[in-house]
This record gives sequence, C-alpha cells and structure tokens, in this order.
Amino acid sequence: MSKRVAVIGAGPSGLAQLRAFQSAKEKGADIPDIVCFEKQHDWGGLWLYTWRTGLDQYGEPVHCSMYRYLWSNGPKEGLEFADYGFEEHFGKPIASYPPRAVLFDYIEGRVKKAGVRHWIRFNSPVQNVSYDEGEGMFHVTVHDNEKDVSYTEEFDHVIVASGHFSTPNVPEFPGFSSFNGRILHAHDFRDAMEFKGKDILIVGSSYSAEDIGSQCWKYGAKSITTSYRTAPMGYKWPDNWEEKPLLTEVNNNTVTFGDGSQKNIDAIILCTGYLHHFPFMEEKLRLKTENRLAPADLYKTVVWQHNPKLLYLGMQDQWYTFNMFDAQAWYARDIIMGRIELPSQAEMQKDIDALRAAEDALEDDYACIAFQGAYTMELMEMTDYPPFDCAGANEAFYQWKKHKKENIMTFRDHGYKSALTGTMAPAHHTPWKDALDDSLESYLQTES
Ligand SMILES: Cc1cc2nc3c(=O)[nH]c(=O)nc-3n(C[C@H](O)[C@H](O)[C@H](O)COP(=O)(O)OP(=O)(O)OC[C@H]3O[C@@H](n4cnc5c(N)ncnc54)[C@H](O)[C@@H]3O)c2cc1C
Ligand SMILES: NC(=O)c1ccc[n+]([C@@H]2O[C@H](COP(=O)([O-])OP(=O)(O)OC[C@H]3O[C@@H](n4cnc5c(N)ncnc54)[C@H](OP(=O)(O)O)[C@@H]3O)[C@@H](O)[C@H]2O)c1
Repeated sequence: MSKRVAVIGAGPSGLAQLRAFQSAKEKGADIPDIVCFEKQHDWGGLWLYTWRTGLDQYGEPVHCSMYRYLWSNGPKEGLEFADYGFEEHFGKPIASYPPRAVLFDYIEGRVKKAGVRHWIRFNSPVQNVSYDEGEGMFHVTVHDNEKDVSYTEEFDHVIVASGHFSTPNVPEFPGFSSFNGRILHAHDFRDAMEFKGKDILIVGSSYSAEDIGSQCWKYGAKSITTSYRTAPMGYKWPDNWEEKPLLTEVNNNTVTFGDGSQKNIDAIILCTGYLHHFPFMEEKLRLKTENRLAPADLYKTVVWQHNPKLLYLGMQDQWYTFNMFDAQAWYARDIIMGRIELPSQAEMQKDIDALRAAEDALEDDYACIAFQGAYTMELMEMTDYPPFDCAGANEAFYQWKKHKKENIMTFRDHGYKSALTGTMAPAHHTPWKDALDDSLESYLQTES
C-alpha cells in the first residue's frame, strides 16, 4: 500500500490509531505508511505530566492540564482497553481509581508491547494542514523543535488526535485586574499544596471544579467556595466547602456573588472548561464545536463530512475514553484501508442530524452514559476490535455516579467489575482522602 497517513498527536487517541494499524499489520494486512507528529517530547498526551505552565522551552503552549495527585475521576472499568487489560499489564487486579502515573504506565504498556514508537516524530508540532483539491493530497507543515526547522510533507489522509482539553476557556469578571491574589485557570493548576491554609474560590461546577476543589480540601485549604453559572453540583460537601451562585464582582480580596453575599478570598481558580482549538487546520478543514457528545460535521463523530479523507478522534465530551478512542481508531483505519465504505453526503448528513437530535433528547447523565456506550459498541462491531461487555462498563459508570452522590470524598474507595475479565477490583489499601502519596509504587502496594 503506498498511501501515507498523518496522525496528529500521540495521546490516548493517537496511540489508539497507531495500535489499530499495527494490529492489522500483525494479522498480515498491507498497511499505509504512518507518521505520527507529537509536539511533546514523549507520548501519553494529557497523561504526560509536566511542572511547566504557559509556554514550553520552545515557545509552544504547554499541553498538560493535569496536576500532581490527580487520580482518575471515573472508574478504570469504564476505560479498559479491550485488547490489553489492566490485569495483563499489572499482573494482578488493581483498585478502580488509579492515579495519573498508574494510567500513564498502562497507556504506555500497550504501545510499548505493540512496538509503534518508531512511527512517532516527537518535539514536532504541526503548524498547518491544507488540502490541495487538484492533487487530492494534504500538505502538512511541521516544525522540528530540536533542529528549529519547518518542513512540509504530503499525505493521503490526516487524522487529528490533538485533544480538546488544553486550550483554556477564560472568562473575565469585573474587578479581576485589581484582585490582590492569584487568578489562574485549571489548565495551569499543578499542586494543591500551594493553596494550603488559603480561602479559595473556584468558578465552574463541572469535573475540574469538583476535583480541584477536592484536591485543595485534601491537601489543607482553609475553605473552598465554588461558584456556579447554571446549577450547583449539589454533593454533600465537607463543612468548609460551600456553593454560591456566580460571582458578580471582585473588590480587592472581597468577592460578591449573585445572591448578594460576600466572602474574602485568597486565590481564584477558573474551572471554566476548554476550547476546541485547532489553529493549525485550514479554515475549511477546521472542526468548530462546543463540548458535546455529537459534534457537528463529523459522521459517526469521526469522519470530516466535507472531506472524508480527514478524520478526527476523541472530539466529543467524554464518559467513555480509551476504549471509545480505540473503537474510533479501528473504524478510521478500516475506512482508510477500504474495508468500510462510507455512505453518500446526504446520508452522512442525515445520520449526523439524527445523532445530534438523539443527544439533545437525553434526559440525564445515565442516559448520556448509555448513549456513549451504544455509540462505542456500534463502531466496535464494524471492525475486528475485540468485543467487551459494554453493558458491564455502563454499569460501572452508574455505580460510580451513585457512589459520588452518597459521599463525594469516599467514592474512590469503591471497586467495580472489569467489563473484560469479570474480575472485581480490590479496595485500595488506603482511603483516597488519606492517601497523600499518588506514586505508582504506593498505589500498587497491597498493604498500606
Ligand atoms: C484534568 C483532566 C483530567 C482528566 N482525567 C481523566 C480521567 O480520569 N479518566 C479519563 O478517562 N479521562 C480523563 N480526562 C480526559 C482526557 O481527555 C482523556 O483521558 C485523554 O487524555 C484524551 O486523549 P486524546 O489523545 O484525545 O487527547 P490528549 O490526551 O489531549 O492528547 C493529544 C496529544 O496531541 C498533541 N498535540 C496537540 N496539538 C498538536 C500539534 N499541533 N501537533 C502535534 N501534536 C499535537 C498533544 O501534545 C498531546 O500529546 C481528563 C482530562 C483532563 C483535562
Ligand atoms: N481527576 C480527573 O480525572 C479530572 C479532573 C478534572 C477534569 N477532568 C476532565 O476534564 C474534562 C473537562 O472538565 P472541566 O470541568 O474542565 O470542563 P467542563 O466539563 O466543560 O465544564 C466547564 C464548567 O465551566 C463553566 N463555565 C464555562 N464558562 C463559564 C463562564 N463564562 N462563567 C462561569 N462558568 C463557566 C460551565 O458552566 P455551565 O454548567 O453553566 O455551562 C461548567 O461548569 C472532563 O472530561 C473531565 O472529566 C478529570
């Protein structure tokens, strides 16, 4: 096969794509030439931790939005690779909410075994992707950060797997410029110890607000106030945590909220989400969407409807993650390799519209989980990706939601059944709130 395929990004989605092609090769298929461009120095995407914030040593925006002491916020049973289980990697069953370093090790284990690293060019941010209608080829311009040179290569297909939780959405509120403390976005949050003994205000009411607030509580913040735009999170919070309507203004260190109440605050953390930001894609190829389950212009949320030689992975809001990226990557591979035929433009449009209407009709988080599970199954069944018990994975998510509602500070002490092996996860040796060491070595110990 003489086709060339560019994969942009070596995070969980891009690595899924490399593993998908390698798996076809292993089974004797003639696969295209693959080049994966990764702007960081190593693979793992968001799971690759760095202390850096702002710009990196090459002047590139830092990709990492993760922080020290981050543990998975959903059960690992909902994301397990169907071709490489946790037990296979760690040699024993492990607890259900691994810290970042443990998940990084797991992600890396599969691709090390597959031997795909030689396909990746590291320190190589893609700067521009355009499509030449006459040639029917993509022109991909890349900057080699180490040599400080830019070059352009041609590809038959481009797969964008650059993630969408790295460019912060940063609103401004009256009085911010004269606030006497630190204001930062969740993207730049690194170490909860910085806020020990402080009164902190968190803006937002989603996963970052909940988790960064919980980190700060765990590591000794004096008080946590979360401020919501649409609705409070509504968990049973510890005594030093309260939820307030959206702030209206800041005056020196005094913050005023929508209900007229005021509070003195030392630091403000904006947990206000992220932007889908692809400045390197030429206008007619650029995905523009809010964070939802069924983004516009993507057939099966993967194929760029206006030019099906361009594919995007992992662009939706995520309950399912690694295994869904796999299902997408196997599907993308089979389209590129001519194993799956795409329908007409009109049929693709109809399908996209139907999916978006179905998403709009979903009534609660349980329905969203089932929707994404069904979507993952649909793609999975079109390829040779090993099947797993999707209903079982949905069940782990349902239990997770229930446990969070029971107690937001103890939900990570529960274990769930693997949708792959049926093994029940053991309890972690130390309750999450007391486990201050988030290292791989500590997590994998069997005794505290
Ligand atoms: C704080 C935080 C915590 C999370 N925790 C969890 C969790 O507990 N469980 C879970 O399942 N999911 C979690 N997620 C969701 C996360 O989106 C997925 O787990 C996963 O990392 C997405 O993989 P990805 O490959 O699509 O994107 P990313 O992980 O973002 O990887 C994208 C890659 O593309 C590279 N890239 C970007 N632009 C370019 C360019 N122009 N040129 C070359 N390379 C480029 C980046 O450097 C990066 O390596 C979390 C997200 C955040 C922000
Ligand atoms: N430990 C972990 O594993 C962990 C930790 C953190 C994050 N994550 C992951 O990171 C991803 C992103 O989560 P996220 O919470 O950062 O983003 P998000 O889910 O998109 O939520 C964004 C939040 O910001 C609010 N917001 C946006 N603009 C605002 C504005 N102008 N004023 C006030 N509020 C505003 C939104 O409010 P509305 O509700 O009003 O829209 C919402 O509450 C998720 O996939 C999550 O699972 C995981």
